[in-house]
Amino acid sequence: EDPARLAAFEARVAADEFIEPKDWMPDAYRKTLVRQMSQHAHSEIVGMLPEGNWITRAPNLRRKAILLAKVQDEAGHGLYLYSAAETLGTSRDEMTEALLSGKAKYSTIFNYPTLTWADIGAIGWLVDGAAIMNQVPLQRTSYGPYARAMVRICKEESFHQRQGYEITMHLAAGTPEQKRMAQDALNRWWWPSLMMFGPPDEKSPNTEQSMRWRIKRDTNDELRQKFVDITVPQAEAIGLKVPDDKLKWNEERGAYDFGEVDWEEFYAVVRGEGPVAKERMQARQKAWDDGAWVRDAARVHAEKRAAAKQA
Ligand code: 3HC
Repeated sequence: EDPARLAAFEARVAADEFIEPKDWMPDAYRKTLVRQMSQHAHSEIVGMLPEGNWITRAPNLRRKAILLAKVQDEAGHGLYLYSAAETLGTSRDEMTEALLSGKAKYSTIFNYPTLTWADIGAIGWLVDGAAIMNQVPLQRTSYGPYARAMVRICKEESFHQRQGYEITMHLAAGTPEQKRMAQDALNRWWWPSLMMFGPPDEKSPNTEQSMRWRIKRDTNDELRQKFVDITVPQAEAIGLKVPDDKLKWNEERGAYDFGEVDWEEFYAVVRGEGPVAKERMQARQKAWDDGAWVRDAARVHAEKRAAAKQA
């Protein structure tokens, strides 16, 4: 990179200016943004699958309508993020090919099965809760289109988190069997939710550069800590117990001390060994194949319109 241009770029980022699609940017900045934004978009789209599984099984019409709205929101989040990533010169087809070939990642959290209705509560409460923790700072990420997409997404995320917490609160205050379901879902979703924030800072190859170029405003561990500090009181408020016997309020730090994430499990799921990872990719591959006729029709229609315009 041309040192003078790099210095000017870094001065702009340090002054909290937004970098826009037509601005000069280091190749590494473009590359890491396509990486993060496309994987963020993949996570939104794959994330529709675990919840989609319960739309026809929701316990009543109100819950069904809310879950339907949430899953549709996630599709929209995926589209905003794919569109924002395209401003960096990649294409929808390239990003989809990277996902389907296994080259690109999506969040490990979506490789866990949704076994009972209480999982839908735990996903909204914990998974969308963690997503809010991680996405609120991204509203000030240095890349303009990404930051603006986040503003819109964060507004909808809070509805997702609230409806999930309400489901869980309702079950926890219900019959002993319902409370057991809510506790079982918390037990299965707690640690995978902590993994959403990424590996520990000292094991995070991207954090140093992402912090310098203000793509990230907080580190993985900082956000994970904030999530624990906010969520533990929410569990206690509805009589549920977080499945971590090392969890303890540390007056001095003004934060919770908590146990160690199972990083073996994390890296195994990142490698694609999650409980339902195969099913997730099969579902995405099928959706892509089933959609081929729509893409072909749209292309032929566009070609006909272009030819008509020429004539
Ligand atoms: N699942 C899968 N891969 C993960 C991961 C996870 N939970 N956490 C980290 N990784 C990957 C990273 O992508 C990186 O691999 P790569 O270089 O091949 O991309 C590697 O592990 C090392 O991690 P780093 O900490 O170095 O990577 P980042 O600096 O990119 O930090 C991140 C990871 C915090 C997830 C960051 O990419 C980020 O903030 N992404 C945007 C938010 C996002 O993608 N959230 C995922 C969930 S979306 C969601 O929950 C939607 C909601 O509506 C439900």
